[in-house]
Amino acid sequence: MSKDLKSPFRTKSVEQSIRDTEEPDHALRKSLSAWDLTVFGVGVIIGTGIFVLTGKVAKETAGPATALAFVVAGIVCALAALCYAEFASTVPVAGSAYTFSYASIGELPAWIIGWDLVLEFALGTAVVAVGWSGYVRSLMDNAGINLPAALEGPDVPGGTFDLLAFVLVLVLTAVLVVGVKLSARITTVVVAIKVTVVLIVIVAGVFFIKGSNYRPFIPEAVPQQGGGGLDAPLVQLMFGFTPTNFGVMGIFTAASVVFFAFIGFDVVATAAEETKLPQRDMPRGILGSLLICTVLYVAVSLVVTGMQHYTELSVSAPLADAFEAAGHPVYGDIISFGAAIGLVTVCMILLLGQTRVFFAMSRDGLLPRFFSRTHPRFQTPYRPTVLLGVIIAVVAGFTSINELATLVNIGTLFAFVVVALGVIILRRTRPDLPRAFRTPLVPLVPVVSIAASVWLMLNLPTETWLRFAIWMVIGIAVYFLYGRSHSRLGRSGPDAEF
Ligand code: ALA
Repeated sequence: MSKDLKSPFRTKSVEQSIRDTEEPDHALRKSLSAWDLTVFGVGVIIGTGIFVLTGKVAKETAGPATALAFVVAGIVCALAALCYAEFASTVPVAGSAYTFSYASIGELPAWIIGWDLVLEFALGTAVVAVGWSGYVRSLMDNAGINLPAALEGPDVPGGTFDLLAFVLVLVLTAVLVVGVKLSARITTVVVAIKVTVVLIVIVAGVFFIKGSNYRPFIPEAVPQQGGGGLDAPLVQLMFGFTPTNFGVMGIFTAASVVFFAFIGFDVVATAAEETKLPQRDMPRGILGSLLICTVLYVAVSLVVTGMQHYTELSVSAPLADAFEAAGHPVYGDIISFGAAIGLVTVCMILLLGQTRVFFAMSRDGLLPRFFSRTHPRFQTPYRPTVLLGVIIAVVAGFTSINELATLVNIGTLFAFVVVALGVIILRRTRPDLPRAFRTPLVPLVPVVSIAASVWLMLNLPTETWLRFAIWMVIGIAVYFLYGRSHSRLGRSGPDAEF
């Protein structure tokens, strides 16, 4: 731990992190089991990524090789999960990568990561709410109920405000204020529906696969339209390639986009403080949910690109539309219904992760302490939940989803890099800490994890990098103007009683 408490690299001791969670007015209820965490994980992981992005990516970037893109993204996440699991089982405190880095690297990097996670979860919630709204509107259209165009959202011609997405976020905010246990119960039912629908796609879809749709499995590379300006992947610009879609590079570009489909396993780590036996249950929850989802994604993408030639896939509801194209609209309706239900949990858990990070940053004094007082009856951090819920509802109402998704991805990959770095550092600075789960082959696995995450980041569009840089510059300014002087650690010392 850093001796110099004036340093922006001062660290908070792991013991202090845990002790903070025991303060009566600032404590969360410990009620979650490994099963709850796995359900939470699957609940947030399967969402807009598989239900929407699969079709778009197969059609525009990778063809049938989208299944390989899911494998690549899954490997990157598995490496990161091995690092997350060690951290989450060693530092079982709300806040995920934020808390982990506070205990290992220092306050400024922790602040940066917290600020980054706020971006990931807030925009992720908005993206999923808008995706949900699209599915609900399509079901409503089939039932002959139409919203006025202006209330269909900015992605629809003539639309300005997405009423359904806005209302969804507000309702979920209220559910989270009442308490995690209630939310977990709802989640279990919804996750069951969602997984059933995904299994229906796989099992029923297998019968409609045509071998010819898989040829070519990796379509030949085609130059991007317009020669690729700021929307070309950074790596292709850096090395002076003509930016292309498809081909082998297309698999990596696709992986950097479908990566969104895996976001969520890291959210499981944010619930460590509310877990009964975090040392044992966190690794089980994180790795278990990730494994289940990877297998399902690869199967779904193989089935869908086998049912329809990739050039004909729909980009808004590809799973349902593939069945309609095969002459089975009833399956299509069931899938749309399950997707609409399933996206609710994704949205809710992202919102939960978001408020917990904000809560942890506030408890440490880096954001006003007002936000970390828990509700006297529900013991939930209701203040940040309400504040952020309202802001996200407005963002979801007025914003289009495409650019937001890549911004979410870059933020998450950046968090992976910091966590992997943190595992290496904490092994050196605190070798004595009990670790229920140990990342294998340290430092090799964390180093490979960092390289893999950076590689996917480089495959994201250049403009995404620019937007991310702007968000980070604002965050660093907030730290130096507020957090640095209000930090409880900076004022009182790493082991002081607060
Ligand atoms: N992984 C989540 C989704 O695909 C965020 O919607």
